[in-house]
Order: sequence, then structure tokens, then C-alpha cells
Amino acid sequence: MPDPSLQAPPSILVAGRLLIDPERAPEPGWILVRDGRIEEIHSGDAPSEAPGLIVGGRDRLICPAFTDAHCHLPQFPVIGADGLGLLEWLERVVYPAEGSWGRGGALAGARRAVGAMAREGTAGFAAFLTSHAGPGADVLSWLEQDSPMRAIAGRVAMDRNAPDDLIASDRAGGDPDEPADRAGDPGTENRVRRSLNPRFAPACTGPLLEKLGRGAADRWVQTHLSESVEEVELVGALFPDAPSYTEVYDEFGLLTPRTLLAHCVHLTDREWAVVARRDSIAVHCPTANTFLRSGRFNLDKAREFGVRVALGSDVAAGADIAMPRVARAMIETAKHRAMGSTEPVSIPTPAQAWDMITRTNAQELGWSGSGVISRAAAADLLVLRPPESWFDEHLIGRLLYGWESGLIETRVFNGGIVRPDTI
Ligand code: GUN
Ligand code: ZN
Repeated sequence: MPDPSLQAPPSILVAGRLLIDPERAPEPGWILVRDGRIEEIHSGDAPSEAPGLIVGGRDRLICPAFTDAHCHLPQFPVIGADGLGLLEWLERVVYPAEGSWGRGGALAGARRAVGAMAREGTAGFAAFLTSHAGPGADVLSWLEQDSPMRAIAGRVAMDRNAPDDLIASDRAGGDPDEPADRAGDPGTENRVRRSLNPRFAPACTGPLLEKLGRGAADRWVQTHLSESVEEVELVGALFPDAPSYTEVYDEFGLLTPRTLLAHCVHLTDREWAVVARRDSIAVHCPTANTFLRSGRFNLDKAREFGVRVALGSDVAAGADIAMPRVARAMIETAKHRAMGSTEPVSIPTPAQAWDMITRTNAQELGWSGSGVISRAAAADLLVLRPPESWFDEHLIGRLLYGWESGLIETRVFNGGIVRPDTI
């Protein structure tokens, strides 16, 4: 049964200072939400009475909710297990945590993870589940039927270099013959889509990648690419005939305009050119790259090659669930690059970073009618209550650097009020 708290009221009037463009100061106004969409946008004071629910107020800030382009739902309980590099961290921290989804913890774990994201204002995400078939199916059904969030999600596909309980053949995951996702077209607005999720080349044999590649043409694909130097070397040893890590995926047909490639930290120019040619999306995960000391993503390279970039928390390698903190980390990564380089490095402004976690992330994940305040857009909105002193030309910087979930007063996702504790 759908949770009654997810039922949208007939209309919601959202009043406050509208942050329509992060490059410009927010202006007083109000929004009428109906049937999950922004039906009207007005400037000036809101009417004091309206037929539906009224939220916000003159001193509130109204902004689009956030989208997280890469995370792992089963890993939320192991945030903060510090001190290891990628491969050792997977073995000692992540695989044991993911094993618990095979012993009855999946649905409750997914609900807690989604609730934690909602608390931080995230209304849409791209996620990995675990490789378990039954629990994965339960979680996908829950995401489709009862969760208030947009999602691209799939169970992990992996068939080697991991514990038996994760790679048993009935759990290897990502069968392209499984029920089709609900979106054939990248531009469609489908709220929940099932993706193919080969974990990464070191955990997948050629035959598994080939099987997944056969299903990739009309599906979203999520994987990891070139996160750490050690991983890149391992791929070289496991796929000695492939010209590069990126081309392992490319040869199996896994790079499409609907492929999300988490990390892309150590790509050569040749690999950037392949990603650009396939129009796949690089997902920058700055907090995770620092946590595991994997390296620093080069935003300028992505721009130089014309590769689309989205931003992901990569929980649990990333310790921050809140996307404003991930956006801040993107700025800090660029600053660190600049401090260690004699070459010019472009540093995203707070407004550009904010745009990334709202409009850009939603658009790159195929929800182009979300992440914005505009007529007919999906009503995924946050009512924030920042201190009055924040309302100056540094408002967006203050939101990024001073973020805490307590700033959020109300969450409107998909046109309904969402209370994270009830997820
Ligand atoms: N590479 C393969 N699996 C994972 C994972 O779960 N997290 C991260 N950060 N990298 C990976
Ligand atoms: Zn990841």
C-alpha cells in the first residue's frame, strides 16, 4: 500500500524568495503546484488564502531540490570507514556491508538510505543496489511504487574477485532479460528507471560485460571507471588485449549517451576522446576521491573534450549525503588542483556548483523537466529558512559552505509534501 503521507494534496502554494537563477538574487514570489508540476509562478506577495495547502513565507528561500548522480544504497551504514585505498576498502568494508542485503536487510536499508537523502533535500538519484536478485527486485518495486523520489537504480552485476555470497550465479545481477526499465527514451520523464550496473571491470568477466552490453542500447548503464591508479593497473592485467580501461567498456557496447561513468579520474586523452565520442556522462565524485585518496578529477579536461559532467556523492566512499557539500567539494578539488599546478585551472563558482546539483544533474539523468523553477517543471522544491544575514551577494556560497539539513523547512517532491522520517 502506498504510504498515505505520499499522497499529494490537490494543490500547494509555495511562497518565499524564489531562487530561479543562482547567478541572480532571489525575488519574492509564489508558486502554485498541482498534479506534481509547477502550474503557475508569480512575483510579489502571495495571497493570504488559497484552496490547497500553503507553505513557506516571505523570509523563506524557495529553490529546486537536489539530484545525486551516483550513490550506493547498501553502503550508507558504512560511511566513514577511513584509512584504506579503493580495492582494500571494497574487500574489507563494502563487500561485507553489501552481504547483509542478502540476509534480510535490503528493504529496510534502502528506506533508511532514501530517507537520509530526502532529509538533505535530494529528490532524485542514480544508485547501485547489491547483486542479490530477490532483495534487489523488492527494492526496485518499492522505489517504483512507494518511494517519493526519482531514481535510476539497478542491482550490481559482478562475477569475479568478490566474496561468493555476492557473485553466486543467481546473484550475478543485471540480466538484460530482466523486466525492462520504464524508459526507452533518455528524454522521457519517467520517475524510476531500472539500469544495468556492472560494478567495474575488475569484478566482471568479459562474458558478463558482453551479456550486459547486449542490453545497453535501450537502458541506462551505471559503472565505475578509472577511479584509482591501482584499479587501472589491475584492469590492464585482467584485460591485456584492451587498449585502455575505457575501451574495455566500449568494446562491449557499454558506452552510450545513457551511461553514467563514476570517477574518470585517471583517463588519458585517448580515453577522454572515447567517452566524448560515445557522449557518455562522467560523474565527478569529489568527496569520494579525497576520502579514498584516489586522485583529483580534471574538470578542465572534461570541458576540453566536450564530455558532459554530473556530480555524485558516491556514498559510502563519499562521506557526505548532502549535495551542497559535494558541490563545495567540487570547488575545493579545483582549488587544490590550482594550488598544485602551474597551468591555469578553472574554479567553479558557487552559482555554477549550485546549478550542477540542481538543473545540470537532473538534466543529465534524463529529468530535464526537474531541477528548475519554471512553468510545467516537476514540482521538486525545497523551502529553506537561512539566516536573514545570508541574503546578500554571497547567498549561494553561504548555502554551500554553511549547509546543514536544518535549513530545510519543507520538502515538496513530485508535488507532494515529503517527511523523511516516514520514508
Ligand atoms: N568501484 C567498484 N565498486 C565501487 C564502490 O562500491 N564504490 C566506489 N567508490 N568505487 C567502486
Ligand atoms: Zn560508486
